[in-house]
Amino acid sequence: MLEHTSYAILPSNIEETDETLHEAGAVESVKWDGDVIEGTLTEGTFLVYLLDEKTLRFSVHPFEKVSRNRTLAVENDEPAPGTEFSETATHICLRYKGMKVTIGKDPFSLTAERHGETMFKTSEPAIAFDKHKRVLCTFEKEFDAPVYGLGEKSGFINKNGENITNWNTDVFAPHNKDTVELYQSIPFAIIHEPGKTTTGVFLDNSHRTEFDMQTFRNRMKIAAEGGKLNTYIILAEDIKDTVRAYTAITGTTPLPPRWSLGYHQSRYSYRSEEEVRAVAEAFDTYDIPLDCLFLDIHYMDDYKVFTFDKDRFPHASGLIKDLNQQGIDVVPIVDPGVKKDVEYPVYRDGVEQGLFSTYIDGSIYYGEVWPGLSAFPDFFQSKTQKWWGHLHTFYTEKGVRGIWNDMNEPSVFNETKTMDLEVMHNQDGNLISHREGHNLYGLYMSKATYEGLQACLPNTRPFSLTRAGYAGVQRYSAVWTGDNRSHWEHLEMSLPMIMNLGMSGVAFSGADVGGFASDCSSELLVRWTQVGAFLPYFRNHSVQDSIYQEPWVFDEQTLRIVKKYIQLRYTFLPYVYTLFHETEQSGVPVVRSLVMEYPDDRKTMDISDQFLLGKDIMVAPLLRPGQTHRAVYFPEGTWYDWWSGETIEGGHYQLVHAALDTIPVFVRAGTVLPLGSDVRNTKENQHVRLIAFYDNERQMSGRLYEDDHISYNYRAGEYALTDIVVSPDGDVTISKQGNFESNLVESDVKIIGK
Ligand code: GLC
Repeated sequence: MLEHTSYAILPSNIEETDETLHEAGAVESVKWDGDVIEGTLTEGTFLVYLLDEKTLRFSVHPFEKVSRNRTLAVENDEPAPGTEFSETATHICLRYKGMKVTIGKDPFSLTAERHGETMFKTSEPAIAFDKHKRVLCTFEKEFDAPVYGLGEKSGFINKNGENITNWNTDVFAPHNKDTVELYQSIPFAIIHEPGKTTTGVFLDNSHRTEFDMQTFRNRMKIAAEGGKLNTYIILAEDIKDTVRAYTAITGTTPLPPRWSLGYHQSRYSYRSEEEVRAVAEAFDTYDIPLDCLFLDIHYMDDYKVFTFDKDRFPHASGLIKDLNQQGIDVVPIVDPGVKKDVEYPVYRDGVEQGLFSTYIDGSIYYGEVWPGLSAFPDFFQSKTQKWWGHLHTFYTEKGVRGIWNDMNEPSVFNETKTMDLEVMHNQDGNLISHREGHNLYGLYMSKATYEGLQACLPNTRPFSLTRAGYAGVQRYSAVWTGDNRSHWEHLEMSLPMIMNLGMSGVAFSGADVGGFASDCSSELLVRWTQVGAFLPYFRNHSVQDSIYQEPWVFDEQTLRIVKKYIQLRYTFLPYVYTLFHETEQSGVPVVRSLVMEYPDDRKTMDISDQFLLGKDIMVAPLLRPGQTHRAVYFPEGTWYDWWSGETIEGGHYQLVHAALDTIPVFVRAGTVLPLGSDVRNTKENQHVRLIAFYDNERQMSGRLYEDDHISYNYRAGEYALTDIVVSPDGDVTISKQGNFESNLVESDVKIIGK
């Protein structure tokens, strides 16, 4: 491709300059309808309102009358009733509790303050656009203020100094820092000035968007290649608070079924029933816990979704039922491409009922994917969502409770890697072009899958895993980070990616353990499994023609260590499940960057190679071959080495030793951890015991959430939420909410460090 040669830097290949931009100009008229301001500008229209005392929305459309419409990302953006409005010759002012927004009339500008402190201020140009319908906003930002969030991006955790663009893209290779556009688009950034302010900026616009923290010295630019500049600004207490407010708008991650948090094994592909059974048997033989096996595209007949290949999987129902009986769930892959084959009922139904994506003249768009020429469901239509959802009875009747959605950028095997931008999507009457719909395709597919599974499986929490998505994807699916490689660099990169996904509302995510493409080594598998055991989603997956990377394929030592860490995942599962409960309630992610928990500690701002599981466990993985030492930063407080029980005082770096069978893990003093007994998978009954990590300055405390692991009964009170307090003398106080009977073995509290 020419753009991969020096042609890319041809002298004439320059982007638009400031001369090609037009400014929105001055406020010409204003209307106040009680809670929302609407008005006209020299060029275009705008609206502004406050959602509560922390969040405001402002939307500017340079070409059309702006409306309150938003994308599927947003589920809650009602204006705060009782917002006060005032107007002078030069300014308009909105106030709600401690929040004040001032709009300058000429030129249009916007300043937002909380409790008297200015936290967001447009600079010049506040709003501008060009003739290609690109719309942008610039605002003040301290030059060195770190930036987090922005979804699934390569590189380190702090995105300051980068220019981030969002366009869902299937990238088999390379995943490196230059590959900015991957599978997910989450146009949400957190700008954090340690010790000062934290501001969230969510540009809810599904066109290709840009967050430019590179070009200007004390400004930042956000832009979209069409539509309106539709922005939510969050003036928060800190990073956690920003994520809370962002997920109040876009939704939190619903509590997953517990089996989806166990260990999952996959491969592209286990190609036959015999092979799948053999894999399950090996887990049994080696006594390694396993909750789920995946069926990749070879299970299908000619890659037709909702079919099984009769030669390779002649007894699919029997296979799934047998595995279910062993406590193993089976998750098949379902891609959006539906093979163009007039004898294939899914294709015929889709055509006959008008459920596929079409051009404006009604002709179906076809593209090449695994099955050859295929049509693509128009998931934007409710009737397509329902139809697609219902098709899943094909799997659920056989015992399936989870689905893996892939290729839903959507990926198409052509030069542009996706659909023709002129394809139209039909949002139940509102037609949008693929240019606008592209980044939403995976989100709509996830919705169709998730709600479809809910309908097929009464009172059962489904599991859905997606590659592509947009803001709000957390409401429907877990996210895995696509086609990484068995490279140490990719193990390293997965950490900031997952931490930033968490700061973008996506709490349930993981990377393919061992790496998907190229060949894994025994050492890499060990180090990667050690990390995976502490991340929200834990799946080992590898590509065809690579060497196998199941726990037993290397040697005795690898098997022993990999098994130890899969078991350790189950030991920590009561704590992990409790964190997922917290996430559903608050949006605060399961895996957190250090800067999220220690926002005023400047030393945490750029830490990409350590993470926190909840607030109490810190993990500092080994990310290089041959390494058995690394520097670990300990934030303030006292930390216990999980393995030795030794204490380390925080506030500095320390060199830590970690032989191959050890991943450095530390527990905050004052923590009470709920830990589970050894089990083969989550379907076995697991007892919970408590370990307290002594703190001579305060009581130790912890929390345990329990329920039936699978149904929605917890929403009707069938849960147990137990708060545990252990005094320095060892007295245990337990207080429980909810009707579920706890598995906690109360008498069994071990105190470390006393
Ligand atoms: C894509 C997916 C990968 C899958 C393969 C075959 O590359 O990202 O996980 O195994 O397709 O379905």
